[in-house]
Amino acid sequence: MSKRIDSQKIMLEHSEAKVKLLNKYLDRYLNIISNDKHTKKISVFDLFCGEGIYENGGHGSPLIILNAINKLHELNTGSIKSIPPINVFLNDKKLEKVEKVKSIIREQELHNEAYGKLNFTNKDYKQIIPKLSTYLRNLKDEKAFIFIDPYGYKEIRASEIKALLESNKAEILLFLPIQFMYRFDEKGTPISLKELLEDLVPDDTWKSNNSVYQFIDQFKEAFKTSLGSTYFVDTFTIQKDPNTVYCLYFFSSHIRGFEKMLESKWEIDSNEGKGWKYEKSGNLFSDFKTNKLEEDILKYLAIKPRNNKEIYNFTLHLGFLPKHVNEVLSALQDSSKVIVTLFNGEKARKKAFYISYDYYKEEHPKAMIKLV
Ligand SMILES: C[S@@+](CC[C@H](N)C(=O)[O-])C[C@H]1O[C@@H](n2cnc3c(N)ncnc32)[C@H](O)[C@@H]1O
Repeated sequence: MSKRIDSQKIMLEHSEAKVKLLNKYLDRYLNIISNDKHTKKISVFDLFCGEGIYENGGHGSPLIILNAINKLHELNTGSIKSIPPINVFLNDKKLEKVEKVKSIIREQELHNEAYGKLNFTNKDYKQIIPKLSTYLRNLKDEKAFIFIDPYGYKEIRASEIKALLESNKAEILLFLPIQFMYRFDEKGTPISLKELLEDLVPDDTWKSNNSVYQFIDQFKEAFKTSLGSTYFVDTFTIQKDPNTVYCLYFFSSHIRGFEKMLESKWEIDSNEGKGWKYEKSGNLFSDFKTNKLEEDILKYLAIKPRNNKEIYNFTLHLGFLPKHVNEVLSALQDSSKVIVTLFNGEKARKKAFYISYDYYKEEHPKAMIKLV
């Protein structure tokens, strides 16, 4: 059995890490959206769904999705009066894979019709994107989550991600075998990578990279530039072995959805935060997180004082959570490097920075933070 076939049939650790993130994110996403008192319907699209189960019993994305929906209902029988219908769309180009996943779902009774519809298609992803973008744009009180998990990256285009995000209704999780892309990058950008990046970075601005992680970051920055500041992008890296790194890129047009995604990411690897490691090597990076954020916050405040809403937004764009920036700001406050003033004229409490989605949502900022 070739290595390629092997990883397609048997769930390896990196696939496990991938679906673990998908699972954690979906649990949060579904819970929040179901409780927002606004959303009337949720749609989950798995555009490269595979056959659902691996030979060693590992669950693929379709099973993760359906189990997350079932769990949501089981856990919330009392507290959520009416969970909106959650429709699931499973697609794979190969008919036999779709048939297989269909029969597994039936045998294991994983789909409850009372929770929403389940649709199967066996189309090429390329055919789906234009229709899906139009469909998303027309949604009213509905939200969508899209999982894109191809074997390679040759078919994916940044412009397709953008088209899906432009609806402002969708969150996207994209899995890319980044190590292969990086290897090609070392040898000179191949046509397929250029095609993916084409509308992201002009040829002359793409820098050569010293490590796969640098490549991942440059790629993320390219996505950010192309999508603009209304959209959020972050990554979650999975290192299978020293020579193989995979990466999940996640995209959102909604800051709250993005925060949930970051929470999932940080929960899985609360120590390093930059991704799940195949084998953890102590906490080498444990103080890296604070330093990097501190550095960026100091630069940001050096330009001009910022209010609590701006800092919340800035922190999330950097891939950090409010609790991280609170830690940084507390330390800066303790060493008298920053001061906080309240817009209502009251005296600010120590260690209160008002950095959360609830304060962000308010019409006016509450506090101003400036360097001393
Ligand atoms: C990495 S696997 C998906 C694994 C699955 N998400 C899981 O968690 O088990 C990629 C799948 O995409 C399908 N595929 C490949 N090219 C496609 C295309 N152009 N459109 C739709 N599906 C495609 C393959 O048949 C394969 O099942």
